[in-house]
Amino acid sequence: MERIKELVAQMTLGEKASFCSGADFWHTESLERLGIPASMVSDGPHGLRKQDEAADHLGVNESIKAVCFPAGCATAASFNRELLEQMGEALGKECQAEGVSVILGPAVNIKRSPLCGRNFEYYSEDPLVASEMAGALVKGIQSQNVGTSIKHFLANNQETRRMSVSAQIDGRALREIYLAAFEGAITQGKPWTVMCSYNKINGVYAAENKKYLTDVLRGQWGFEGYVMSDWGAVNDRVADLEAGLELEMPSSMGANDRLIVEAVEKGLLKEEILDRAVERILSVVFRFEENRDRTAVFDRDKDHETARKVAEECLVLLKNEGSLLPLATDKKVAFIGEFAAKPRYQGGGSSHINSHKITSALDAAAGNANIVYARGYDSSKEETDQALLAEAVKAAAEADVAVIFAGLPDSYESEGFDRPHMSMPASQNRLIEEVAKVQPDVAVVLHNGSPVEMPWISKVKAVLESYLGGQAVGSAQYDILFGRVNPSGKLPETFPLKLEDNPSYLNFPGEKDVVEYREGIFVGYRYYDKKKMEVLFPFGHGLSYTTFAYSGLKLDKRRMEAQDTLRVSVEVANTGSRLGKEVVQLYVRDKESTAIRPEKELRGFAKVELKPGETKTVSFTLGKRAFAYYNTQIHDWHVEGGDFTIMIGKSSRDIVLQEDVYVGQSAPLPVHYTKDTTFGDVMENPRAAEFVEGLLSQGMFGGEEGGSAASEAISREMMEAMMRDMPLRGVLSFAGKGGVGAETVKKLIDRLNESEKA
Ligand code: BGC
Repeated sequence: MERIKELVAQMTLGEKASFCSGADFWHTESLERLGIPASMVSDGPHGLRKQDEAADHLGVNESIKAVCFPAGCATAASFNRELLEQMGEALGKECQAEGVSVILGPAVNIKRSPLCGRNFEYYSEDPLVASEMAGALVKGIQSQNVGTSIKHFLANNQETRRMSVSAQIDGRALREIYLAAFEGAITQGKPWTVMCSYNKINGVYAAENKKYLTDVLRGQWGFEGYVMSDWGAVNDRVADLEAGLELEMPSSMGANDRLIVEAVEKGLLKEEILDRAVERILSVVFRFEENRDRTAVFDRDKDHETARKVAEECLVLLKNEGSLLPLATDKKVAFIGEFAAKPRYQGGGSSHINSHKITSALDAAAGNANIVYARGYDSSKEETDQALLAEAVKAAAEADVAVIFAGLPDSYESEGFDRPHMSMPASQNRLIEEVAKVQPDVAVVLHNGSPVEMPWISKVKAVLESYLGGQAVGSAQYDILFGRVNPSGKLPETFPLKLEDNPSYLNFPGEKDVVEYREGIFVGYRYYDKKKMEVLFPFGHGLSYTTFAYSGLKLDKRRMEAQDTLRVSVEVANTGSRLGKEVVQLYVRDKESTAIRPEKELRGFAKVELKPGETKTVSFTLGKRAFAYYNTQIHDWHVEGGDFTIMIGKSSRDIVLQEDVYVGQSAPLPVHYTKDTTFGDVMENPRAAEFVEGLLSQGMFGGEEGGSAASEAISREMMEAMMRDMPLRGVLSFAGKGGVGAETVKKLIDRLNESEKA
């Protein structure tokens, strides 16, 4: 750092300003005089989209041949941190080989609505899953001395008006859901850089939002790298710099450098702020430069195999009636649907990879003479192609089993726009219905970045969700269909029955430039569970070809203080006949709470591999945050004392074991009494309650106790119930003769407040 400070000290004001924006579309500035090299950044997040340096200043040219790993939507379903770390290591090596200092990802925004066009890049509706998976990828990439840029900070949960919309989010939802998706990945994974989003948060552009870029990110989470803008997210360069945005991308062609210089010269911007920004940028530049691995090679074939291995754990078996899957190799199987030959394995936009090779399910089936193929539909068309449909129905009727490869075409789902609905193309829905009429054994293999409606669900026996599984997805599909690989993915999001059920439905994508997140913390399963709604497939759901049995849930204590940790262990056994992997899920429920809370929240997960007959113990450690909610009065996490249930589930809707633990309150919440405080609230505080009891016994409500006809109809309990919601000032209006006066109430309030301070 000292050396970097010295370098910055030797730079002119103009040079320093120029370092705060890109040299071009993908590079930071360089300065030969001081030996500062340019540094290249590239997309991200699930493959390397490195553009040809010579030709391109707009970022539109074709990128180099690379390897497309499964997208975020898919890797989240693996629930496997080690696997993501391995994928990260491969990506990091690729970057070293290509001289890319920072890869632009992971993208961790919460999947608030199934319609967000960029959901395929994102992980989950649950912040723990998003944050853990992103953190693992960051760790893997950075283990190769290559930086990451976790994005898009903050609340970029839709593509509609992404550059101007303001996400209006309440303080609790921000902390518990939207910030939480970044928090663990940043505090644990320590990404070298963070990319701010285009949108506004509660009226302030992310790029100039000091509260998040500086107070939260650096002040509370200890982030030490630099913040870069999303491409073109800068609105007011000087304000952004002051708020904590170090690097503007891409280049502003000098325009914003001049504004920075001017601001410093006029005394409107402290030069220290500029110096610090340049220091932070240069620290990352040199961190990469000084740790270059000149021996690294981009081994595309090897990474294709890694992409395949990752994909094998991403696919989710949603339904498997009568154990239709796995298929026996001697069965005559009709592979139907264009995606069997040309899988949709990635999404459109800045993450689009120029794949060096693609393996479709049909490629993977080469050599299996029992497979026939019929295209079934034209993915570029909405309407049914009658000839393709007829051919597919015929093939299905003549086969023992039909496997339909379906899902969303590129035009349905991409960066830059949101989906208008949650349906698959009508031609594909029709194809599934028609095939199911002639073939009782139908499996559907889906390709989509986010939930789809499945009007045909009761007519097919099996559904295998592939998400966007990367360039090797076909091998993973084939191996799972034929049982060479046992599926082990779980849904990182809820599949609602229909779009209208989704909690954001009434407020997505908002009105003009404002979108209100009125569902608050009730995102995904937090909402469906609270409402006890039927869903198509719940969060955490996913089947296996083997069976798992859970037993022996143990908590290492029955009572604890909020600052203690709780050790939880559970035994999981493979009771079937195949090797398998299970995702053990731990949810916590606050049994009784004055704060409005979800039914339960995921607080831990672990993936274990078990041989047939094998049992393993899975352990979790829970700290304060597992029990806390974000209290906006104290601006901190708060545990309300009481009983909590620790639940172990195979999914959010399949809880198999549970035990209670008593957790003490984290700290008393500050109370300030006024004449509007209710008696009920006063009575909650034992010390304060004494005063009020005293008043009651003095016959505060006049001296007529037991006298009137009306009072005969009122029991003491009824009286107390009515009193509960009465503000203290109420005694002035309702007290009878001999009741208390304003002076007495004021004194009472003063005494209550004094007793609080004591
Ligand atoms: C996207 C980012 C991406 C950047 C550079 C932007 O449009 O939102 O995710 O990293 O472009 O391609």
